[in-house]
This record gives sequence, structure tokens and C-alpha cells, in this order.
Amino acid sequence: MERIWWKDAVVYQIYPRSFMDSNGDGIGDLNGIGARLDYLAWLGISVIWLCPIYRSPNDDNGYDISDYQAILEEFGTMADFDRLLAEAHRRGIRVILDLVLNHTSDAHPWFIESRSSRDSPLRDWYIWRDGRDGHPPNNWESIFQGSAWTLDPATGQYFLHLFTERQPDLNWENPALRHALYDMVRWWLGKGIDGFRIDAISHLKKAPGLPDLPNPWGLPWVPSYEMHMNQPGVLDFVDELSRETFRHYDVMTVGEANGVSPEQAVEWVGSARRRLSMILQFEHWTLWSRDPHASLDVVALRKIFTRWQRTLHGRGWNALYLENHDLPRVVSRWGDPARHRYESATALATMYFLMEGTPFIYQGQELGMANTEFHDLAEFDDVFARNRIAQMRSEGRSDTDILAELALTARDNSRTPMPWDDTANAGFSTTTPWLTVNPEYREVNVAAQRAASRSVLHYYRDLIALRAAEPALLDGRYDALLESNRKVYAYTRLRDGRGFAIICNLSAAPARYRHRGLVLRHEALVLANHDVNLHDDLTQFALRPYEARVYRVEAG
Ligand code: NOJ
Repeated sequence: MERIWWKDAVVYQIYPRSFMDSNGDGIGDLNGIGARLDYLAWLGISVIWLCPIYRSPNDDNGYDISDYQAILEEFGTMADFDRLLAEAHRRGIRVILDLVLNHTSDAHPWFIESRSSRDSPLRDWYIWRDGRDGHPPNNWESIFQGSAWTLDPATGQYFLHLFTERQPDLNWENPALRHALYDMVRWWLGKGIDGFRIDAISHLKKAPGLPDLPNPWGLPWVPSYEMHMNQPGVLDFVDELSRETFRHYDVMTVGEANGVSPEQAVEWVGSARRRLSMILQFEHWTLWSRDPHASLDVVALRKIFTRWQRTLHGRGWNALYLENHDLPRVVSRWGDPARHRYESATALATMYFLMEGTPFIYQGQELGMANTEFHDLAEFDDVFARNRIAQMRSEGRSDTDILAELALTARDNSRTPMPWDDTANAGFSTTTPWLTVNPEYREVNVAAQRAASRSVLHYYRDLIALRAAEPALLDGRYDALLESNRKVYAYTRLRDGRGFAIICNLSAAPARYRHRGLVLRHEALVLANHDVNLHDDLTQFALRPYEARVYRVEAG
């Protein structure tokens, strides 16, 4: 079989603003990342994904780009980037960048030109429409709250923005715009980077004629995306993008593809099509976003992952993740950081990491970091949180109420500075960081977990090493076991009849494993987050809260 490097890879996602500050301004930067490459090499990851590092007014922390070919001053210079790339490569670590193609900043010269007059040659690079009787052109809601349209008084037309009003959507129907983007993409590829994570790629195509939504609201805090997500024709854009750029390089491409089903994903990432390497799907986190108070529904989670695993096996490739910079921490969502931090963080890790696909780790996840603490609405930095606060206030909700919702849902939860040690500012910076450190940093930090004999960090390192050493964990077939069990998520990964059984109790209560079809042997235990009782009968045994075990097995 041809070995494809990005299938073997483990990706580590870096939020540059919060990873490491090298120049004492309280903001993470490229040289800070460079200073921590040895840590990443020790951990064993093979690719870093940098969230946006381009010049930006930072309305949405870099996802609003004003110059695609310059580095945000706070993060350093292009020379710093080139050095980081070279230093990463020297350690065998590849680097992928975040590619934001759905929108730019309103400070991008293209938008400044486009808004300058109705006759601007770049007018059509963005989506401009006349209003309807003094109202926006249609009833679409922005993903970040409020109408998706803003009136530009100078020219009397509205522009579309699916995210904030400082992130105008690019008009992908315009070929000149598309080719200008491809030039920029090729420029980065020419520098020798190893690929991209492509932001909001399933939103590039809007429904023709931009029709009204029958119901603009999906959930109370999530609008309907029906007319601008995964629309027919979006794959033609992806196809052209890939044909004009990625396909000519040995790179990894990861599309952020909300709304794409596993069956459709075959079209997006199928090896036959050569469009993208993999997509980040959203289905499993709808379990949480639908009701952030609900505890983990193991049966529903297994159903979702199993469908993705089965559908793409042998036909495409999965991206595996539980955390990112848009989601609160997974131990707070689905684990139990107060009573079982180590166990729940490692059980969740074992569950997703050994499936078929490329695993992603978001900075701090490898420490089992939990959500941070908020005491006041003024502490929220994220533009979504700030818009949401304004929205809820206009609905008459009390500050206590708003704080309770955001403490659970805010993206700031996972954007706090990386805790490197227990010194001031968690070793992230010599000064007060841009976002307050998570107060648990004195216990939860890299130095403490490296020194401990048992820690979430060491467990992740073991998982990475195990996956790298075992072909069955790369492309062995996934089969779910105990399909109706409400606490235990168990599956096998088998290749030519050999492989692994992965057994995880994802609940805070004891659980029973019972399965006669698979022969487990004590001497074949390769990884566990609890001491295993060697007197257990391995056809049925008790699992402690969040206990996880991995056995080497052979099909009977
Ligand atoms: C998805 C990114 O992950 C998120 O952080 C950002 O706010 C939106 N896309 C808009 O670019």
C-alpha cells in the first residue's frame, strides 16, 4: 500500500495568540511557538496547524484577514515565520496554515475598493444587494448574531456577512476573485508549507438568488444555515480550488465542512476525487450544541462516529477531533474534571484517538484542561460572546443568566493561555496575558505533568506512540461492539484478522463490559488508565468510572 504521510500524522492545533509569548507583550507569537517545538517533538505529534497568523484587525482573532501575505505584527514577521517553518521541518514536524476563503476583513484592500463605489471593478468580489423597503435584502441571520447584512451608507447597498459585520463574504461566483485567491494559495504553497485547514469551506456557495429562509432560527442561539451551507455547486468550487492549487503539491488539506454528511463526504474526500485530504465534520458536536447542559449520550455518539467510520473506510479519510478553539473543553463538556479529571480526559482520548483517521489534538487538551472561570461579563473577549451578550440583554435576560450560559458555551473557555508551569502567568508570558489564565494552572500545567509518573500528558504521548507503531490502528477496519451500551464505548480495529479492542467507560459510574465473541487476554493489555485486576474474567468484568483499556486481539 502507498503510505500517505498525512494518514500517519497526528495534528496538533495551535492557537498562536495563546500558545507562548516570547517578547513579553502578553500575546503569543511565532517565536514563542518556535521555542516550544522541542516539547511538541517530545510529545510525538507530526503536524502543527496554526490558526490564522495573517495581518488582521482581530475582530474575530485573525479570522478576519486584511492581508493574506503578511504576518500579524503581534505575532512577528515573515522572517520569523520562515524560521519557524524551517525549525519545525528540521524536527520532522510539518506545518499547515488556516486558510480563510469565505470572507476577508472589511479592512482588506479588496473590500475597501469594493465598497468605494457601485462601479468599482471589485464591486462584484463581495456580495452587494439593494435593501427591501429599508430592510436587509433577505432574512438571513449571521452565525454571530444579528442580520447577515449591513448597510453601507456611502453606496446605499447592503453587503453580506455570514460572520461579523467586519467579515464581509467574498463572492465565489466571480472567477476573477477566485483566481486572485488561488494566486495567494500558490504563493504560500511555494514557500514549502505542508497544507491548509480551510475555514468555513462548506459556506462558499450561497443559494442562487439568495432567497429568504422559511425559518431563520434553528436553535435559540444558532441561526439556520439552510441557504448558505453545503449548497449544490459548492463542490465545483472545491474542485477548481484543488485543481488550481493543492493538487500540484504533496500537501494535506482539511476542510472545515459543517453540514456535510458521511455519505456526501465521500465526494469531498474520496480518494478517487482528489479534492481534499479530509474534512472536519460537525455532527458529533451537535450532540452538545443542541443542549449544552445534557450529559454525554454514548449511544448517539457511537452511532455518529460509527457511521463516519463505516462510510469512509476504504473510500476516504476521517479527521478525528474532540476539541478546537471554537468549543469549550471536552472534559468539561463530556467528562468530569472535578472528580475524575485524569480518568475522564484519558478515556475520552482513547475513545476517539484510535479510530481510523488522522487525530487532532487542540493545545491544552493533552493536559486535560477544563473550562476556565468567568466572574463578570466584561471578561469575555470573543466577538461571538460579546454579540450574544448584547442579544440576550436586548431580550431582557439578567447578567447572572447570561453568565451562566456563556460559562458553559463560550469559545474563550478553550482560548486561555497554555499553562507551561506553575509560575506567574503560567509560564506563558512575563506580563499579564491578553486573556486571563485558567486559575487551575497551578495544578494543570506541562511541567507538572511531565514530571508526574501518571498524567494526561504522558497518556497522550503513549497513545501517539501506540498509533504510530501499529498498522492496524492506521487503516484496520473499525467495528463497534456493545452497540446499545449507554456507558461503554467499545470497538475493534482489525487488519488481516489482527488488531486491537478499545474499551472505554465514558460515564462517572461503574459499568459492565460483557462480550463473548472476542478473546481478551491479560498479557495482551497494551494501554490502560487504571490498574487492571488480573483476576478479572475477561469475558465480563467491571469497569471503574471512566476506565479505558486497549487490548491486542486476534479475530477468532
Ligand atoms: C470557523 C473558525 O474556526 C472560527 O473560529 C471562526 O470564527 C469562523 N470560522 C469564521 O471564520
